[in-house]
Amino acid sequence: MGYGSRREIALLTRAGLVLLDGAPLRDADQRIPVTPDLAQRMRIDGEALDPPPALTLMLHKPLGVTCSHKEAGPLVYGLLPERWRRRDPALSTVGRLDKETSGLLLLTDDGALLHRIISPKANVAKRYRVTLDRPLKGDEGAIFASGTLMLEGEEKPLLPVAFEAEGAVNAVVTLHEGRYHQVRRMFAALGNHVVTLHRDRVGGLDLPTDLAPGAHRILGAAEIAAVFAGGEA
Ligand code: URA
Repeated sequence: MGYGSRREIALLTRAGLVLLDGAPLRDADQRIPVTPDLAQRMRIDGEALDPPPALTLMLHKPLGVTCSHKEAGPLVYGLLPERWRRRDPALSTVGRLDKETSGLLLLTDDGALLHRIISPKANVAKRYRVTLDRPLKGDEGAIFASGTLMLEGEEKPLLPVAFEAEGAVNAVVTLHEGRYHQVRRMFAALGNHVVTLHRDRVGGLDLPTDLAPGAHRILGAAEIAAVFAGGEA
């Protein structure tokens, strides 16, 4: 879980900093079953133990951080506790948001869950709030809903996208797939340009209004279930 090497944990334990049910553990070799309630029972150096795997969380991704080691710039993982980079199994983002996209990003160490969420079968909707450079023309909704829009360089048309205008240069779009730079390329195909892009909903899970940019929250079973609400799986 990233707390340290065996040696470091032995030192922490000997220093009395590992508590189980309120009492310091003395023997770092003691085998303790990893039960779901362990995070409530164990404290490390004064703090509740991190949740054991499987760990799933939401992050309010701010602008300017990347989801991929291949892109330049600070990574989203840098917004999480430092030791989480040493967790095994590792945390991964569930899909990606562009560096200049903000909003709801899920991360998990549960590979099966990750694949269930991104699988086309699950049909998980992703909702984006868009600000555009030029006023809407009025035909965007029909074109996006048609299921015939082709993005440059692709061979298959996009699945229908729900579209709602919110004034002259603002819109909300809901996608059921996630092609590379999809929202930006959809509007580029219509001669417009996305200025700001923010994801505020994945499946039936909303980005909480009290979760500040850069902050994260661990998800419980009900919130994970909400991701699949309204889908087909
Ligand atoms: N579409 C985009 O163009 N960028 C994102 O980050 C997400 C969807």
